Amino acid sequence: MKYTIVIGVSSGIAAYKIVDLIKILKYKNIEIEVIMTNTAVKIFGVEMFEKAAGKKVYTDLVPDGFDYREVLKKREVEHIKLADAASLFVIAPATANIIGKIAAGIADDFLTTTILATEAPVLICPSMNIHMWENPIVQKNLDELKKLGYFILHPDSGQLACGYEGVGRLAHPQKIAEEILRLLYEKEKLKGKKIIITAGGTSEPIDAVRTITNRASGKMGTAIAQECYLRGADVLLLKSKTAVGTNAPQDTSGVASWKFDPGSLLRELDPGSYRGHDSPDGGVIKIEIFETAKNLEELIKKYIKNYDILFHTAAVSDFLPEKIIDKKLDSQKPVVLKLRPAPKILHQIKSWNKKIKLVGFKAVYKLEEKELIDAGIKKLKESNSDYIIVNDVGKEGVGFGVDTNEVYIVSPKGFLVKIPKASKKEVARKILDYIFR
Ligand SMILES: Cc1cc2nc3c(=O)[nH]c(=O)nc-3n(C[C@H](O)[C@H](O)[C@H](O)COP(=O)(O)O)c2cc1C
Repeated sequence: MKYTIVIGVSSGIAAYKIVDLIKILKYKNIEIEVIMTNTAVKIFGVEMFEKAAGKKVYTDLVPDGFDYREVLKKREVEHIKLADAASLFVIAPATANIIGKIAAGIADDFLTTTILATEAPVLICPSMNIHMWENPIVQKNLDELKKLGYFILHPDSGQLACGYEGVGRLAHPQKIAEEILRLLYEKEKLKGKKIIITAGGTSEPIDAVRTITNRASGKMGTAIAQECYLRGADVLLLKSKTAVGTNAPQDTSGVASWKFDPGSLLRELDPGSYRGHDSPDGGVIKIEIFETAKNLEELIKKYIKNYDILFHTAAVSDFLPEKIIDKKLDSQKPVVLKLRPAPKILHQIKSWNKKIKLVGFKAVYKLEEKELIDAGIKKLKESNSDYIIVNDVGKEGVGFGVDTNEVYIVSPKGFLVKIPKASKKEVARKILDYIFR
């Protein structure tokens, strides 16, 4: 597989070392694109980078002679093209300034705009004066970025260009290259594995227009699907109609696919043009949409025999209306709804494919840590799962609807690990690191 690394060069004094990094990566047959900040251009010029990369370096968001009509004609914007092309985005050296700008979501030049637009993993390689490095604002920004799933390569210690001695030297180009290759290798780790992820919440009809549902957004499941895909797995995402970004067909009979261009996994594409086929390199996440628990059960049964692993993150209704009213209820009259407990899909999955590696999710509400772990172990036994991932949705920033999560993993060996609160993307990464370690 041919990878493209986009290297963002900001104006750290160590920027000249990036020429060596480019040479190492080119030797590994990796496609390189370079973006420089204006200050980096002022200090170093573009020539040595263009020579090393063997192509033009990007610097200006709006270059001389820019004509917006060309953009409209070609339907192509340079920085978005680069953002999408990146298998991995590397910022080296990363100044205190660029770190602060990324953490604040600022996009005021070519580099920061492209970073904001990419969905590729981003590796940040800071380098700066020791006092800048120790400044709590810089450390706070780095912590924030780490929580959001950015990778940070710690700077080395030693003699600094400013005359100080201490932490702040750009990691050696060889070390940066190794980290890049490690991250790219991660992409291959689940190659050949077939993984189903269920995501979102079921909706059960009450009458012709109303449903009972829950607050699940599908964000955790979608993050796991994305991460499995990035690691090379063949992914089928069964997601609810109510889950994030569902523009896909609501016909559950056909497989829809999202094309993957690394920068836009979660961008909706015209489903019609991707229906029912994979690209030759497997570059899609296949999607099926469900609405009710019954739909979901049917879909799992349809596919499960051909898959190796199932992450069941979907929140399936615990109750179903005893009968569905075949018309629109009169809103002026009181209604008594009778609900019955719904069958537990998770508990049946192993009976549909006993070889499947089953990862179940359990939401608890405001429990002490010990009770939470006990609830996970009980669920594990009831469902015969290989792992149960428990979260306490009563905690702020955990579980339904939000962008962050905090989870505990249990297996038949008992409690394994707590993944502290972080973005769902980061939590998804750690769950996979743990389960496939
Ligand atoms: C000679 C020189 C060396 C610099 N080295 C660094 C550095 O190593 N790290 C850093 O964070 N800033 C360094 N700076 C400061 C940045 O250039 C400055 O904060 C600039 O605004 C950053 O812009 P940029 O992030 O868009 O490149 C240096 C400035 C100069 C003039």
